[in-house]
Amino acid sequence: MQRITFTRPDDWHVHLRDGDEMRTVVADTARRFARAIIMPNLTPPVTTTKMAMAYRSRILAALPKRTKFEPLMTLFLTGKTGPQEIVKAKQSGFVHGVKYYPAGATTHSDSGVTDLNKCFGALEEMQKLDMPLLVHGEVTNPDVDMFDREKVFIERVLSQITQRYPRLRIVFEHITTREAVEYVTSAPDNIAATITVHHLLLNRNAMFSGGLCPHHYCLPVLKRELHRQALIKAATSGNPKFFLGSDSAPHTKNAKQAGCGCAGIYTAHAAIELYTEAFEQAGALDKLEAFASFHGGNFYRLPRNTDKITLARRSWKVPRTLRFGKESLVPLRAGEVVGWQLV
Ligand code: NCD
Ligand code: ZN
Repeated sequence: MQRITFTRPDDWHVHLRDGDEMRTVVADTARRFARAIIMPNLTPPVTTTKMAMAYRSRILAALPKRTKFEPLMTLFLTGKTGPQEIVKAKQSGFVHGVKYYPAGATTHSDSGVTDLNKCFGALEEMQKLDMPLLVHGEVTNPDVDMFDREKVFIERVLSQITQRYPRLRIVFEHITTREAVEYVTSAPDNIAATITVHHLLLNRNAMFSGGLCPHHYCLPVLKRELHRQALIKAATSGNPKFFLGSDSAPHTKNAKQAGCGCAGIYTAHAAIELYTEAFEQAGALDKLEAFASFHGGNFYRLPRNTDKITLARRSWKVPRTLRFGKESLVPLRAGEVVGWQLV
């Protein structure tokens, strides 16, 4: 097959940042995807509908001319998020989820949740109004091994939330383990998950091959090959619970190549192309469209996109760096080849 054409996809988890930085990356996402769920972990975080409205306007203003792209906004859940804010979010029509970051779990998550009990009012209202909860599924307890954080989150936190709010719609974001795949597969229909392209293409060896490679460091951290295999199987299964969320998370080259490097991998420059590679490697190109363009919209109860994209089998070289605000970033596959190109 030399070309594939399918319904324009959506990205159900992306970091666009803000200001000058956003202006240099937003076009990558908007070229490929019709819509995207925009992560709220700015500094300060997007905790209110009012802030989400302002951020949404800044995103629209940063788009290249004549680009049609719909940012689907989210709120950052804290212990102070009350039911009133959930009502406002629902009424806005542009807030499509509330993001739960355990405090300290990842980049700019310090004001995340420290005590789940403080969120019960908001969660109750979300269940009532059918507002999805998007979870960063990792515990942060220092006694838990870095590679077990997701598994322990399922046992200690997610099970608690689902028991208390059995009808709450939950997206278990960027899952990375076999345990998460099994959990989501056997859970009721209101529980779904996104899968990134880097977790489909790489296992944890990628962080250490030929020396320490900070550009393959992200959170949740890459896992063993057996987990990658489980993710491939889930993504290509046709199961509507699994859908595309790139978690493209740009950081400056200097912030990544530092004594204490930031977590996050930039994939927006080639996101759908790389997913195509992963599905092709798995012999499942026929499952790509549903994963990338149907399942997420169905879960979020949004209409299907009507236009199409075409990818050609044509190798192109990814630049070593891309502009990122006044600085630069190192994208996934920097200086190497991607086998599919957007037409
Ligand atoms: C994200 C970021 O940089 O904002 N980093 C990452 O490694 N994925 C935060 C996140 O989604 O965890
Ligand atoms: Zn993310």
